[in-house]
Amino acid sequence: MNMNVTLPGSTGLQFKNPILTASGTFGYGVEFAPYGDLTSLGGIVVKGLSLEPRAGNPMPRIAETPCGMLNAVGLQNSGVETFITEKLPKLPTDELPVIANIYACDPAEFGELTAVLAAEKGIAAIEVNISCPNVREGGILFGQDATLAARVTEAVKKAAGDKPIIIKLSPNVTDITTIAKAVEGAGADVISCINTLSGMGVDIRTRKPLIANVIGGLSGPAIKPVALRCTHQVCKAVSIPVIGMGGIASAEDVLEFILVGAHAVQVGTSNFLRPDFSFRLVKELEQLMEKMNITDLEEFRGSLKL
Ligand SMILES: Cc1cc2nc3c(=O)[nH]c(=O)nc-3n(C[C@H](O)[C@H](O)[C@H](O)COP(=O)(O)O)c2cc1C
Repeated sequence: MNMNVTLPGSTGLQFKNPILTASGTFGYGVEFAPYGDLTSLGGIVVKGLSLEPRAGNPMPRIAETPCGMLNAVGLQNSGVETFITEKLPKLPTDELPVIANIYACDPAEFGELTAVLAAEKGIAAIEVNISCPNVREGGILFGQDATLAARVTEAVKKAAGDKPIIIKLSPNVTDITTIAKAVEGAGADVISCINTLSGMGVDIRTRKPLIANVIGGLSGPAIKPVALRCTHQVCKAVSIPVIGMGGIASAEDVLEFILVGAHAVQVGTSNFLRPDFSFRLVKELEQLMEKMNITDLEEFRGSLKL
């Protein structure tokens, strides 16, 4: 059985299976090592990094919703330098593709941050978050405007050297294909989609919002149909590879994203339900493929009958 994924084009990115973990839901990877073999995963995307440390938003920052969760963590992180000196050396980067996820306030800062990470041998690729709904400066604005999205992509590409760049798109737009085409045109190597959907929850007894930021990002199985629709549309609109995500909670879900054309997937909220979720999912996907007589994922990919 062939679960290997080789991304087409000049990225050189290869995963031993299509299951990666999504940014912000798997720490810096190190925290999850007690729950499974990190090198059994296709890859990991670490928590969003900024040039300087960020404290994030005030608490409460997460709330459960039917079939999902709301979060407004606000990109809390220890800053890129601490990641490079303290976290990255603890990861088995020879055997595990480690993807850095980045966030900045303007295109120049995106470029500066990229240059710092591009110098690190242990980083397989850089995923650019132009789609965070939970921060005041920049954040989702970059992902909602085709011109701004292209400008960030160009700045990152210029600073990335030979590291592949993945642009992560927001579902909170009128037409996701416009943004996808703009970032492809500006030099993106890969697109990942989707980030969280803008959402809100309130408590009628306390008359307060569920999270202090009022508005947050909805994730988990509740968003899977939206994520699948976006992935399908983006795969049809561009010719660069696409990594799909949003609500993946089973091996069947993984195959759904691959069926609509994704080369690989990322698993997010399910990691909060069980810290060993992604490790188990790799084994479950193998079993499901065997049961369904799928011997080659690349043959199955994009074979949706329309
Ligand atoms: C608590 C939390 C923190 C997140 N932090 C980031 C982040 O730092 N950068 C980013 O690009 N996406 C972040 N995301 C979005 C996820 O990576 C993913 O795109 C989204 O949750 C959809 O996948 P899921 O439904 O499987 O969780 C975060 C999501 C959650 C739930």
